[in-house]
This record gives sequence, C-alpha cells and structure tokens, in this order.
Amino acid sequence: MTDTSERRQDDAKSRSPWTEPPMGLLAELTHRCPLQCPYCSNPLELERRADELATADWLRVFEEAGELGVLQLHLSGGEPMLRPDLPELVRGARAAGLYVNLITSGVSLDEARALALREAGLDHVQLSFQGAQPELADRIGGFPGGHARKLAAARAVGRAGRALTVNAVVHRQNLDQLEGMIELALETGAQRLEVAHVQYYGWALRNRAALMPSRAQMEAATATVHQAQAALAGRLVIDYVTPDYWARRPKPCMGGWGRNVLNVTPSGRVMPCHAAAAIPGLRFESVQERGLRWIWEESPAFQRFRGTDWLPEPCRSCERREIDFGGCRCQAMLLTGDPAATDPACELSPHHALLRELAEGEATGEPPAFAYRKFKSREPADA
Ligand code: SF4
Ligand code: FES
Repeated sequence: MTDTSERRQDDAKSRSPWTEPPMGLLAELTHRCPLQCPYCSNPLELERRADELATADWLRVFEEAGELGVLQLHLSGGEPMLRPDLPELVRGARAAGLYVNLITSGVSLDEARALALREAGLDHVQLSFQGAQPELADRIGGFPGGHARKLAAARAVGRAGRALTVNAVVHRQNLDQLEGMIELALETGAQRLEVAHVQYYGWALRNRAALMPSRAQMEAATATVHQAQAALAGRLVIDYVTPDYWARRPKPCMGGWGRNVLNVTPSGRVMPCHAAAAIPGLRFESVQERGLRWIWEESPAFQRFRGTDWLPEPCRSCERREIDFGGCRCQAMLLTGDPAATDPACELSPHHALLRELAEGEATGEPPAFAYRKFKSREPADA
C-alpha cells in the first residue's frame, strides 16, 4: 500500500459513523443462471451454490434491513427464480416492511409462479430482454427459446397484476433493434423501460470489443430514446443509462459510494456495489459475522470512498463533486489500476483520451465472437 492510500484508510477510519439509511438493498440470492449473457456484470469468480445463504439468514438480513431504514429490496442474481424458497423470502421481506422487486430473466416465470409470488407479497418485476427479435435475443442470451418464454413471463406478470419494468441492455449487436424493444415494452404493458448501455465490469469487460457501440450508434440510440421519451410521456417512463466510454462526465455510480445502496452477495458479503470485489485491499464484511447496521455505518469498506473528503484533484475542486462523486470506483480501478482515481469517463481525467481510443478502436471492424458466461459445469444452473 502507498503512503497516500495508507493515509486515506486512516482518514476513513477516523470518520464518524454514517447515519443516513440506505434506500435500497440488492440481494444477490444466487449467482447461478440459465442464461449466458456476454455482458454479465457479475464478477469473473462466481460464488458457489454450496456457499449461498440459507433461507433463515436471508430472512434475518431483510429484518435488519427494515430496521436500518431500507425501503426497497431488489431480489437479483444470477437468476433469483432458481431459489425454491423465493416465495418464503418475498413473504419475509414484506413482513419486514420492504417494497419487493424481482429482477429476473423470466425464463422460468410462468403464471403459477407469478401468482404464488403475488400471494407472497411481491410488488414489482423487472424483466430483461436481449433484443426485439427472437433469433438475435436468443443468440445473445445463449438460451434457445428464451425470448418466447420472456414474453410469456411478461403476460404472467400482467395477469398477476404486478408492476412491470422491461430492462433492455443495449450494445453494438442489438442497437438496430432499439425501436423494436421500445415497441415490445409497450406491448408487454410495462409501466417503465430501462434502456441501459453495457457497463464494462466483471464478465462484460472480457467481451468489451464484441459489445462496444460506435459513436454513430450511440448518438442514434440517444436520439431514439429522447424522441420516445417525449412521444410516450404518460404511457411509458423510459430511463436511459448512457455509455461511459462515450461520455464527457461520469455517472454518479450507485448514487455515490455507500450513500444509497447495499449489495449482499449470495454468500452474504456486503458491498457498496455489485462489482466492488474488483477493488483490492477492501475487506467486505459478512452478514454471518456482523450486523447490517454496523456494516453500513462503520465498516471501513463503506467508509473508504464515502462522501467527498477522499476525492483527488481534479474532483476535489470541481463543482460537480457532489453530483457524481468522482464517478465509478470500480471503473477507475479496472482502467487505471487506482480505485481512488477520477473515473476515466470524465474528460477532466488524464486517462480520458485512452478511454476514447479504446472505444474508437474496438467499435470499428467486425466484432469478435462472444465469450459466453457459463456457470461452472459441475454446478448446473437448474434452468
Ligand atoms: Fe466529476 Fe471529478 Fe469529473 Fe468533476 S472532475 S466532473 S467531480 S469526475
Ligand atoms: Fe462499483 Fe461503480 S460499479 S462503484
């Protein structure tokens, strides 16, 4: 560790406990998944089924989350539908006073399961689509027949009377179906559509050249989204996550480190974001050993990049420092080797030109073949 980073660690330790409660908790119930998306943002090393928290552990976590002041619970993965105790978990989360959102691929969400989850108290479903047409969507997800199953899942959610958000992760190989994906969201009866350019963490970084859009694609997509936002106002809310590599300023990743969100991995490690394991030197406490409140308020990993005191220049004296908090710590780590650096998505970062060069280089020419995400063959994904 360098002198500077030692000093920063000491500064973090001496800060007073953080008393603002988090808004949301993302519970990664399992890393197992029947799909094999090349843009998966889960880490390269997935956690094993044998290490997953038991039902009682998750129920205790949800209770502690409610007591801490968390309002929204996002049940995620991998594929959370692979947990047979999902209805019990939903029921427990509702009893803890949490609004419960299920983030799913939908390939095993049939009508009976949608009704069972509604009876358990599920509030909302976020359903991912890989494209507008089945051939392309199934190729990207690596799951033949998956698109048709997702459409059936959307109908099941509608019949169960639950709120629906369609999530469309976009990249150079499906952006020409963006208008179709907006149509698809309308046809499913979704109230909200999230159009999100790929974030290059975890497995997705390995596929960056196969996924990177050109500047022209990015600009066309942005114009399409803005037109649709205006034309569909009152019918469909459209959120847009812009592509970092073509940005001039970074996004406030997670709303700021340790500010709004807790992420609990399948084995119970608590992190400020789903990709934080990429940052060396941080110890992520487990819910098996520590209470959620202590982890949120006092653990060194949550203190490390919280607020603005730790910011380097140019962020320290920048007027946007309380808007984006210097951008994404994981991206800074992956692209510069220093998690405390200004996010290279910012054009004031000394690494920004390199980011642009990477984007321009990778977006030209034929894309390489996808490296599909496969859960370890000795632990089949129970599709
Ligand atoms: Fe944000 Fe830092 Fe860039 Fe300012 S210099 S816009 S705070 S990343
Ligand atoms: Fe970890 Fe942005 S993904 S801080």
